[in-house]
Amino acid sequence: MSHESTDTWGGDRQGSVRQGSDGQSGDTLVTLEGITKSFGAVQSLRGVDLRLGPGEVLGLVGDNGAGKSTLMKVLSGAIRHDAGSITVGGKQVRFHSPADARAEHIGIVYQDLALCDTLDVASNLFLGREPRTGPFVDRAEMHRRAAEMLSTLHVRVRSTYQEIGELSGGQRQAVAIARAVSFQPKVLILDEPTAALAVAEVRQVLRMIREVAEQGVGVILITHRLQDLFEVCDRITVMYEGRSVDDAAIADLDIETLVAMITRSNTTTEEAA
Ligand SMILES: Nc1ncnc2c1ncn2[C@@H]1O[C@H](COP(=O)(O)OP(=O)(O)O)[C@@H](O)[C@H]1O
Ligand SMILES: [Mg+2]
Repeated sequence: MSHESTDTWGGDRQGSVRQGSDGQSGDTLVTLEGITKSFGAVQSLRGVDLRLGPGEVLGLVGDNGAGKSTLMKVLSGAIRHDAGSITVGGKQVRFHSPADARAEHIGIVYQDLALCDTLDVASNLFLGREPRTGPFVDRAEMHRRAAEMLSTLHVRVRSTYQEIGELSGGQRQAVAIARAVSFQPKVLILDEPTAALAVAEVRQVLRMIREVAEQGVGVILITHRLQDLFEVCDRITVMYEGRSVDDAAIADLDIETLVAMITRSNTTTEEAA
Protein backbone atom coordinates (compact mmCIF):
# COMPACT_ATOMS: atom_id res chain seq x y z
CA MET A 1 0.00 0.00 0.00
CA SER A 2 1.34 3.38 -0.81
CA HIS A 3 0.87 6.78 0.70
CA GLU A 4 1.11 9.52 -1.84
CA SER A 5 -0.30 12.17 0.38
CA THR A 6 2.86 13.87 1.57
CA ASP A 7 2.21 17.03 -0.36
CA THR A 8 -1.46 17.21 0.45
CA TRP A 9 -0.89 18.02 4.10
CA GLY A 10 -0.80 21.67 3.17
CA GLY A 11 2.27 23.79 3.39
CA ASP A 12 1.19 26.63 5.60
CA ARG A 13 0.05 25.09 8.82
CA GLN A 14 1.51 26.77 11.83
CA GLY A 15 2.49 25.26 15.11
CA SER A 16 2.38 21.60 14.26
CA VAL A 17 5.17 19.17 14.87
CA ARG A 18 6.41 17.39 11.80
CA GLN A 19 8.03 14.05 12.36
CA GLY A 20 9.71 12.45 9.41
CA SER A 21 9.10 13.29 5.80
CA ASP A 22 9.18 9.98 4.01
CA GLY A 23 5.47 10.09 3.28
CA GLN A 24 5.03 6.72 4.93
CA SER A 25 4.27 6.32 8.58
CA GLY A 26 6.31 9.40 9.40
CA ASP A 27 3.86 11.91 8.05
CA THR A 28 0.67 9.91 8.26
CA LEU A 29 -0.62 8.53 11.52
CA VAL A 30 -4.01 7.51 10.26
CA THR A 31 -5.58 7.11 6.85
CA LEU A 32 -9.24 6.23 6.44
CA GLU A 33 -10.40 5.36 2.98
CA GLY A 34 -13.93 4.71 1.76
CA ILE A 35 -15.35 3.93 5.19
CA THR A 36 -18.99 2.85 5.15
CA LYS A 37 -21.34 1.84 7.96
CA SER A 38 -25.04 1.04 8.04
CA PHE A 39 -27.29 0.50 11.02
CA GLY A 40 -30.08 -1.55 9.49
CA ALA A 41 -31.63 0.68 6.84
CA VAL A 42 -29.77 3.78 8.04
CA GLN A 43 -26.63 4.37 6.03
CA SER A 44 -24.65 6.49 8.47
CA LEU A 45 -21.34 6.45 6.61
CA ARG A 46 -21.38 6.34 2.81
CA GLY A 47 -17.69 6.63 2.03
CA VAL A 48 -15.40 8.69 4.22
CA ASP A 49 -11.75 9.53 3.60
CA LEU A 50 -9.63 11.15 6.28
CA ARG A 51 -5.94 11.64 7.01
CA LEU A 52 -4.18 12.67 10.18
CA GLY A 53 -0.53 13.45 10.76
CA PRO A 54 1.53 13.57 13.95
CA GLY A 55 1.19 16.81 15.87
CA GLU A 56 -1.70 17.82 13.71
CA VAL A 57 -5.04 19.05 15.02
CA LEU A 58 -7.75 18.07 12.57
CA GLY A 59 -11.22 19.56 12.96
CA LEU A 60 -13.97 17.16 11.97
CA VAL A 61 -17.04 19.19 11.15
CA GLY A 62 -20.47 18.71 9.68
CA ASP A 63 -24.11 19.20 10.50
CA ASN A 64 -25.92 17.06 13.08
CA GLY A 65 -26.28 13.55 11.74
CA ALA A 66 -23.44 13.93 9.23
CA GLY A 67 -21.75 10.87 10.72
CA LYS A 68 -18.89 12.41 12.73
CA SER A 69 -19.45 10.45 15.93
CA THR A 70 -20.07 7.22 14.05
CA LEU A 71 -16.82 7.67 12.15
CA MET A 72 -14.88 8.26 15.35
CA LYS A 73 -16.50 5.21 16.96
CA VAL A 74 -15.18 3.23 14.02
CA LEU A 75 -11.69 4.68 14.46
CA SER A 76 -11.73 3.97 18.19
CA GLY A 77 -12.97 0.41 17.82
CA ALA A 78 -16.38 0.95 19.43
CA ILE A 79 -18.22 -0.08 16.27
CA ARG A 80 -17.14 -2.09 13.26
CA HIS A 81 -17.36 -0.56 9.83
CA ASP A 82 -18.77 -2.37 6.80
CA ALA A 83 -16.28 -1.48 4.07
CA GLY A 84 -13.24 0.69 3.54
CA SER A 85 -9.80 0.62 5.08
CA ILE A 86 -8.13 1.93 8.21
CA THR A 87 -4.37 2.39 8.05
CA VAL A 88 -2.49 3.26 11.21
CA GLY A 89 1.23 3.98 11.06
CA GLY A 90 1.45 2.45 7.58
CA LYS A 91 -0.25 -0.78 8.64
CA GLN A 92 -3.76 -1.77 7.64
CA VAL A 93 -5.82 -2.63 10.70
CA ARG A 94 -9.29 -3.83 11.55
CA PHE A 95 -10.62 -3.12 15.02
CA HIS A 96 -12.95 -5.48 16.83
CA SER A 97 -12.98 -3.64 20.14
CA PRO A 98 -11.82 -0.44 21.82
CA ALA A 99 -8.90 -2.46 23.22
CA ASP A 100 -7.74 -3.12 19.63
CA ALA A 101 -7.73 0.59 18.89
CA ARG A 102 -6.00 1.36 22.18
CA ALA A 103 -3.30 -1.14 21.25
CA GLU A 104 -2.69 1.02 18.16
CA HIS A 105 -2.49 4.05 20.46
CA ILE A 106 -5.83 5.54 19.49
CA GLY A 107 -7.64 7.21 22.36
CA ILE A 108 -11.04 8.85 22.51
CA VAL A 109 -12.95 11.07 24.88
CA TYR A 110 -16.65 10.60 24.26
CA GLN A 111 -19.19 13.35 24.40
CA ASP A 112 -20.57 11.98 27.68
CA LEU A 113 -17.01 11.65 29.10
CA ALA A 114 -17.64 8.24 30.67
CA LEU A 115 -16.39 9.35 34.07
CA CYS A 116 -17.77 8.02 37.31
CA ASP A 117 -19.40 10.89 39.24
CA THR A 118 -19.27 9.21 42.63
CA LEU A 119 -15.56 8.42 42.49
CA ASP A 120 -12.80 10.90 43.16
CA VAL A 121 -10.51 12.44 40.56
CA ALA A 122 -7.61 10.04 41.10
CA SER A 123 -9.84 6.95 40.99
CA ASN A 124 -11.27 8.14 37.69
CA LEU A 125 -7.84 8.70 36.23
CA PHE A 126 -6.74 5.19 37.23
CA LEU A 127 -10.00 3.31 36.86
CA GLY A 128 -9.21 -0.34 36.20
CA ARG A 129 -5.42 0.07 36.52
CA GLU A 130 -4.94 1.39 40.03
CA PRO A 131 -1.43 1.07 41.46
CA ARG A 132 -1.38 -1.76 43.95
CA THR A 133 0.64 -3.01 46.86
CA GLY A 134 -0.12 -6.71 46.92
CA PRO A 135 -3.88 -7.04 46.53
CA PHE A 136 -4.60 -3.54 47.83
CA VAL A 137 -4.95 -0.32 45.91
CA ASP A 138 -2.10 1.96 46.92
CA ARG A 139 -4.23 5.05 47.36
CA ALA A 140 -1.40 7.35 48.38
CA GLU A 141 0.60 6.40 45.30
CA MET A 142 -2.48 6.71 43.10
CA HIS A 143 -3.18 10.24 44.36
CA ARG A 144 0.46 11.21 44.03
CA ARG A 145 0.55 10.04 40.42
CA ALA A 146 -2.83 11.63 39.69
CA ALA A 147 -1.59 15.00 40.93
CA GLU A 148 1.49 14.60 38.77
CA MET A 149 -0.55 13.75 35.68
CA LEU A 150 -2.78 16.76 36.15
CA SER A 151 0.05 19.14 36.80
CA THR A 152 1.89 18.00 33.66
CA LEU A 153 -1.17 19.08 31.69
CA HIS A 154 -1.66 22.21 33.80
CA VAL A 155 -5.06 21.05 34.97
CA ARG A 156 -6.10 22.55 38.25
CA VAL A 157 -8.46 20.83 40.68
CA ARG A 158 -8.68 21.61 44.38
CA SER A 159 -7.74 18.06 45.29
CA THR A 160 -7.44 14.67 43.64
CA TYR A 161 -9.74 13.48 46.46
CA GLN A 162 -12.62 15.57 45.10
CA GLU A 163 -15.51 13.61 43.64
CA ILE A 164 -15.96 14.08 39.91
CA GLY A 165 -19.56 15.13 40.53
CA GLU A 166 -18.32 18.20 42.42
CA LEU A 167 -16.22 19.50 39.54
CA SER A 168 -17.17 22.08 36.95
CA GLY A 169 -17.85 20.97 33.40
CA GLY A 170 -14.45 22.20 32.29
CA GLN A 171 -12.63 20.38 35.05
CA ARG A 172 -14.47 17.17 34.21
CA GLN A 173 -13.56 17.54 30.57
CA ALA A 174 -9.95 18.18 31.58
CA VAL A 175 -9.86 15.06 33.76
CA ALA A 176 -11.35 12.98 30.94
CA ILE A 177 -8.70 14.28 28.55
CA ALA A 178 -5.95 13.68 31.11
CA ARG A 179 -7.16 10.11 31.52
CA ALA A 180 -7.06 9.56 27.75
CA VAL A 181 -3.61 11.18 27.51
CA SER A 182 -2.29 8.92 30.27
CA PHE A 183 -2.67 5.95 27.90
CA GLN A 184 -0.04 7.71 25.76
CA PRO A 185 -2.06 7.85 22.57
CA LYS A 186 -0.60 8.76 19.22
CA VAL A 187 -4.08 9.73 18.11
CA LEU A 188 -6.53 11.45 20.42
CA ILE A 189 -10.16 11.93 19.43
CA LEU A 190 -12.26 14.52 21.23
CA ASP A 191 -16.01 14.56 20.53
CA GLU A 192 -17.47 18.00 21.28
CA PRO A 193 -15.21 18.72 24.25
CA THR A 194 -16.26 22.33 24.58
CA ALA A 195 -19.98 22.03 23.82
CA ALA A 196 -21.24 22.70 27.33
CA LEU A 197 -18.47 24.86 28.76
CA ALA A 198 -18.17 28.43 29.96
CA VAL A 199 -15.78 30.69 28.05
CA ALA A 200 -12.83 30.39 30.45
CA GLU A 201 -13.21 26.63 30.48
CA VAL A 202 -13.23 26.50 26.70
CA ARG A 203 -9.89 28.30 26.74
CA GLN A 204 -8.44 25.73 29.11
CA VAL A 205 -9.57 22.79 26.97
CA LEU A 206 -8.25 24.41 23.78
CA ARG A 207 -4.94 25.03 25.49
CA MET A 208 -4.78 21.36 26.51
CA ILE A 209 -5.43 20.34 22.92
CA ARG A 210 -2.54 22.46 21.72
CA GLU A 211 -0.21 21.09 24.38
CA VAL A 212 -1.07 17.51 23.54
CA ALA A 213 -0.52 18.17 19.82
CA GLU A 214 2.79 19.85 20.54
CA GLN A 215 3.94 16.54 21.99
CA GLY A 216 3.38 14.99 18.57
CA VAL A 217 -0.07 13.50 19.17
CA GLY A 218 -2.48 13.77 16.25
CA VAL A 219 -5.75 15.20 17.56
CA ILE A 220 -9.15 14.90 15.92
CA LEU A 221 -11.51 17.52 17.26
CA ILE A 222 -15.24 17.30 16.62
CA THR A 223 -16.91 20.58 17.35
CA HIS A 224 -19.72 22.78 16.18
CA ARG A 225 -18.02 25.81 17.75
CA LEU A 226 -16.43 27.07 14.57
CA GLN A 227 -14.38 29.73 16.34
CA ASP A 228 -12.56 26.94 18.22
CA LEU A 229 -11.43 25.46 14.91
CA PHE A 230 -9.63 28.65 13.99
CA GLU A 231 -7.84 28.63 17.33
CA VAL A 232 -6.48 25.11 17.47
CA CYS A 233 -6.85 23.35 14.15
CA ASP A 234 -4.38 22.99 11.33
CA ARG A 235 -6.83 21.46 8.93
CA ILE A 236 -10.47 20.48 8.72
CA THR A 237 -12.36 17.63 7.16
CA VAL A 238 -15.99 18.35 6.37
CA MET A 239 -18.63 15.63 6.45
CA TYR A 240 -22.03 15.85 4.83
CA GLU A 241 -24.67 13.12 4.96
CA GLY A 242 -22.21 10.35 5.67
CA ARG A 243 -19.50 11.44 3.25
CA SER A 244 -16.31 13.42 3.54
CA VAL A 245 -16.86 16.29 1.15
CA ASP A 246 -14.05 18.74 1.83
CA ASP A 247 -10.60 18.88 3.30
CA ALA A 248 -8.77 22.17 3.73
CA ALA A 249 -6.06 23.93 5.68
CA ILE A 250 -7.68 26.21 8.23
CA ALA A 251 -5.36 29.04 7.15
CA ASP A 252 -7.15 29.08 3.80
CA LEU A 253 -10.60 29.52 5.32
CA ASP A 254 -12.76 32.10 7.00
CA ILE A 255 -15.97 31.51 8.94
CA GLU A 256 -18.23 32.22 5.96
CA THR A 257 -16.39 29.76 3.73
CA LEU A 258 -16.47 27.16 6.45
CA VAL A 259 -20.19 27.59 7.04
CA ALA A 260 -20.78 27.28 3.29
CA MET A 261 -18.73 24.07 3.25
CA ILE A 262 -20.68 22.58 6.14
CA THR A 263 -24.10 23.49 4.77
CA ARG A 264 -23.11 22.91 1.14
CA SER A 265 -24.89 26.18 0.44
CA ASN A 266 -22.56 27.24 -2.33
CA THR A 267 -22.75 24.01 -4.28
CA THR A 268 -24.89 23.51 -7.33
CA THR A 269 -28.09 21.48 -7.40
CA GLU A 270 -26.54 18.03 -7.56
CA GLU A 271 -27.27 17.16 -3.96
CA ALA A 272 -29.18 13.95 -3.63
CA ALA A 273 -31.98 13.92 -1.10
N1 LIG B 1 -26.45 3.01 16.75
C1 LIG B 1 -27.14 3.60 15.76
N2 LIG B 1 -28.25 3.04 15.25
C2 LIG B 1 -28.93 3.63 14.26
N3 LIG B 1 -28.59 4.79 13.68
C3 LIG B 1 -27.50 5.42 14.16
C4 LIG B 1 -26.70 4.86 15.21
N4 LIG B 1 -25.66 5.70 15.46
C5 LIG B 1 -25.81 6.72 14.60
N5 LIG B 1 -26.91 6.56 13.81
C6 LIG B 1 -27.37 7.46 12.76
O1 LIG B 1 -26.26 7.75 11.94
C7 LIG B 1 -26.31 9.09 11.48
C8 LIG B 1 -25.04 9.79 11.87
O2 LIG B 1 -25.03 9.98 13.26
P1 LIG B 1 -23.79 10.59 14.05
O3 LIG B 1 -22.58 9.84 13.67
O4 LIG B 1 -24.16 10.61 15.48
O5 LIG B 1 -23.72 12.07 13.46
P2 LIG B 1 -22.99 13.36 14.03
O6 LIG B 1 -22.09 12.94 15.12
O7 LIG B 1 -22.29 13.93 12.84
O8 LIG B 1 -24.08 14.28 14.51
C9 LIG B 1 -27.56 9.70 12.09
O9 LIG B 1 -28.59 9.62 11.15
C10 LIG B 1 -27.82 8.80 13.28
O10 LIG B 1 -29.17 8.81 13.59
MG1 LIG C 1 -21.98 13.49 17.20
